[in-house]
Amino acid sequence: MKIGILGGTFDPPHRLHFNMAKKALETLELDIVYLMPCGTPPHKEKTRAASRFYRYEMCNLGALEYEGVSVSDFELYQILPNYSYQTLERFKALHPEDEITFLMGQDSLDMFLKWRHPEKILKVAKIGVFVRDRFNDADAGKLLAQANDTIKEIQKAIGGDFSIIPTIPSSLSSTEIRNMISRGEDASDFLSTKVYEFIKERRLYINDMSTDLTDIEKSIKKTLKKSRYRHTLGVCYTASALAMRYDINIDDARLAGLLHDCAKGMDDEELYRFCKKHKLGITDAEEKSPHLLHSKVGAYLAAKEYGVENDSILHAISVHTTGCPDMSWLDMIIFVADYIEPNRIGAPRLTEIRQMAFKDIYLAIVMILEDTMAYVKERGMYMDPLTEETYRFYSERIKN
Ligand SMILES: [Fe+2]
Ligand SMILES: [Fe+2]
Repeated sequence: MKIGILGGTFDPPHRLHFNMAKKALETLELDIVYLMPCGTPPHKEKTRAASRFYRYEMCNLGALEYEGVSVSDFELYQILPNYSYQTLERFKALHPEDEITFLMGQDSLDMFLKWRHPEKILKVAKIGVFVRDRFNDADAGKLLAQANDTIKEIQKAIGGDFSIIPTIPSSLSSTEIRNMISRGEDASDFLSTKVYEFIKERRLYINDMSTDLTDIEKSIKKTLKKSRYRHTLGVCYTASALAMRYDINIDDARLAGLLHDCAKGMDDEELYRFCKKHKLGITDAEEKSPHLLHSKVGAYLAAKEYGVENDSILHAISVHTTGCPDMSWLDMIIFVADYIEPNRIGAPRLTEIRQMAFKDIYLAIVMILEDTMAYVKERGMYMDPLTEETYRFYSERIKN
């Protein structure tokens, strides 16, 4: 079977996504094209993201109108972002007989050689590139020529089988559609009727939710020790203050703060068993230091037990222990609030870091990681490689 894969956040999936899938299906004579919504969206934006379950549901609703287009949940349950080569290698292992074409836009093609292990992608998949016919009449043919040049350059370096899929000029984006909806404008021209109804029914992308946290507070209090609960409340209001400072959604920050340690009531063995039971992957670092699992289990519980549907919040919980490169604003705020909340005592440079958090959050992150790494080394404890990776990322960032 010839399978096309179109990955993305699909927040929300709009007509252009489905038209692109359809165009790939026809041009490359594929049997099926899967939209593959990612589990964890790139966290560059400040706007409220729809949960992975909603995005998946919307893809399914939209695909009903397009024969040959289907939806895959293959990446949906990934809490941490993973690289395309990892997804494609796993997918190929499950579909060894099928021919896979990975679909991408021209902007991705331009960056392809800079991706993580592009040669591994080309081993398991062909590439289909959407190339816009033109930006305007004067541009006709230019983009196509550019794409052909880029393909030649890639093939010279690492080979690969590339095809071009000409598409109609359009600059429609999910961000614009979310903005239209949040402004109360009509976005029906850009979305399938069923997807638009789904969005309206659930009031997605409208930032008017004020979260009553009383019930969650009560149940968190029951599951945590007194000191951990005090810490949790500290993180909750420190995160609110940082959210005010950096202009992000205060309710999201409060909720993420309140739930960030919701799995801390479990001991290491319980966390480990929980992950095995619910098939949450355990990394080498987590095998060595199972207490790290409380972030991952916390994100899971936040979704399943506390009904959190916002992926930005789940992601912030899942990375709060080690941080990760290129965190969202909410990720950074929870990571920092966890360290500086008023009940914490004894950490070196705490006063300085607390002040820095409100001046320059990137610098505060670097200081926290420096002190954490020094603490771990001094005591001969195991260092999570993700902590070091995060440190390298933010050290580089403050230099630039
Ligand atoms: Fe924690
Ligand atoms: Fe914490």
